[in-house]
Order: sequence, then C-alpha cells, then structure tokens
Amino acid sequence: MIDNIKNIYKEKFNVLPEQTYFSPGRVNIIGGHTDYNGGYVLPFCIDMGLYASIKLRNDDGFRVYSDNFNELGIIVFDLGNLDYNNNRDFANYLTGMIQELKTYWPQINHGFDIAIISNLPTGGGLSSSAALLVMIGYICNDIYNLGLSRTEIAVHAKNVENKYIGVNCGIMDQFVIANGKKDCAIFLDTQSLDYEYINIDNNYAFILVNSNITRKLVESKYNIRQKETQDILIELKKHVKINNICDLNPEDYDHYQSYLDNIDFKNRFRHLVDENSRVKAAKAAIEVGDYNALGNLLYQAHISARDLYQVSSTVLDDLVDMGMKAGSLGSKMIGGGFGGSTLNLVHRNRINLFKENFTNIYINKYNKEPIIKVVNIEDG
Ligand code: GLA
Repeated sequence: MIDNIKNIYKEKFNVLPEQTYFSPGRVNIIGGHTDYNGGYVLPFCIDMGLYASIKLRNDDGFRVYSDNFNELGIIVFDLGNLDYNNNRDFANYLTGMIQELKTYWPQINHGFDIAIISNLPTGGGLSSSAALLVMIGYICNDIYNLGLSRTEIAVHAKNVENKYIGVNCGIMDQFVIANGKKDCAIFLDTQSLDYEYINIDNNYAFILVNSNITRKLVESKYNIRQKETQDILIELKKHVKINNICDLNPEDYDHYQSYLDNIDFKNRFRHLVDENSRVKAAKAAIEVGDYNALGNLLYQAHISARDLYQVSSTVLDDLVDMGMKAGSLGSKMIGGGFGGSTLNLVHRNRINLFKENFTNIYINKYNKEPIIKVVNIEDG
C-alpha cells in the first residue's frame, strides 16, 4: 500500500511526495453510544486504514486526490475558501480540519498536495471519516510544527465532525485512532479522557462481517439518538446531580426511570446505564482472561443496541445470529449503527471453522459469499 500511494501521488502530481502517512480504522469491542453520554468505551485500532502521500507547496493552495473517489478527480481549494462545500465531497474533511487548526495557528499559511488511498470499506462502520480527520490533523501538526499531542489532535477532529460536518458524535473514534496501541484495547473514560491500555490475549481473534449497507451518519438516526439523550439528561438533572447519563448505575435505573414519561426514553436510559457497566465488566473479563464472559457481554450489548437503543437493522441482526450459530463467543454490531459491520469474538484455533460455518449459513440465506475479515490490533 505504501509504494502504491507514492506511485499514485507521482502519477497525479508529476513529482515524488515528501512524506507518507497511515491512519487506521477502529473497532469498538463494547460501549455503544456511551461516548456522547460521558461513559466508558473499549475500542482498538485495526490493520486497515488510510494511506496518504503529501508534498508542501509554496503558495496557499491545496490539491487533493483520493483513489477511492477517483471519479471526483483532483479537488482544488486554498486557504481563502475553507468553508463547507457540498461539491467537495470527502475533501470537506480536509477543509474542515485545516479551518479548525488555522483558527488557532496562523502559521498555517501555505498548502500541500495530497493523494489518499484507503482499504477501509467506506460506511463499513470502521470509522473512515475519523481516520481521515485525525490523519489530516497529524499531517498539519507535523508539517506546520503545531506541537499538538495526539489527544489534542483527536479533540480537534471531533470538533470538526460536530461543528463542520454536522455529526454529533462522541470522542471514541478520534481518540483511539490517535492513541491506539498494538495488541491492546483502550479503556477510555470519555468524560475525563483518562485511559488505560488493556492487553488482548492473542489466542482470541476479532472477525468482522460487512453488512454491505453503507450509511452516512449525517443521514442516519444517529443525531436523533444524540438529541434524545440530551433531552433525557435535561429531565434527569431536575432530580439528581449528574453531568452525564452514564454517571448513573444500573441500580439507579428503577428509581429515575419514573421521571421519564416516554417508553423510548426509558429504553435509551436503560441501555446506557447497562452498557456502561458492561464496558467495565468486559475490561475485568479481559484482565482475568475470561473470554467466554467477554463473548456473553458482546452479545448482550447487541441485544440492548437492537431492542433498547434501537440502532440495529434486520441485516445486522441476521449477521449477529449467524455469527452466534457459526461458533462466535459473542457477536454484535459495531459503530454508529443501522449498517456497517458486525464483530465476532472467536478462539484463534477456530477461525477457519467459524469462517466455513458462517459462509455456509450465509450463502444458504443470501445466495452470495459473505465479506469476512480477521482484523489485527495495530498502533494508532
Ligand atoms: C460512531 C460515533 C462514535 C460512537 C459510535 C457508537 O462510531 O462516531 O462517537 O458514538 O458511533 O458507539
């Protein structure tokens, strides 16, 4: 991939690039939708992602080419026109990040040419957008000497998603993409940003199945869920002193649910307090090496995302059922929901058996080959 992107750069811009960068996608083991409610999450970075080659320019212009959107050709902009523009498509993630950083660092006064290639399926629930934003932040930090920490880059990337792109996401994706560590998951408190690396036993593998339903978070019900939780929090705060919904425990549910008059709100609330405690239980299970218990928690997380938080889809539910039948210790949807991929926890000795079982069950129903991928845990 690295040679590939350098060649693509050379082909498009007729000169060799100066630097090449990689930014991974991510998988969240557990902690669905807790990150914009002040809860815990447990994600890791994967060995698929975005590669970019760049070269600085002397003027204030930028030229952007992505091999995954080659039909768009080379997109051109300069420091004088960084506002969101529909015609720029994915390049809005670049203009957004550059505009965000330029507000604080006026030394961003000249541009660069960049070619990008990705082996992350777009809309596969693996956070290609956060990978791109964090990568652009990292590149700017590098070439303009901004002195930002990885966490600061992640926070700027989240700001861009929220304010510029219009997705009211939490910090999980950007944070793990910036700070991920090989063979470890990150146990992150999304309120304080305190975190701990949790070593994952290499005898267990994480296997993704792509639903092939791509969805854009801006268009999905993601922002609706975020707004619902804001409304729930406003109501709860009238009765208890908290900053976020995840400050409450499953034991608090019975008492405080009575203040919510709407069944959907009660269900969202239940999911969040339970899910937050499942993240802590998952961390404990990994630490004592109980991967059967971890698998159970994953499956419970899916049921809760399906029935209480209602962010699953028929195909995702199907893939989870198939995963369980094929011998997964636990299967669940990942990411924002409504599409993307499912995650399966499988003992490494049983990978082939799992794939074979899954493929048979899948072909039987859908009459085509499933898209199955074993992912490794990589550095951010
Ligand atoms: C998306 C968002 C994250 C998080 C997950 C759900 O990936 O970008 O911030 O909310 O959905 O857990």
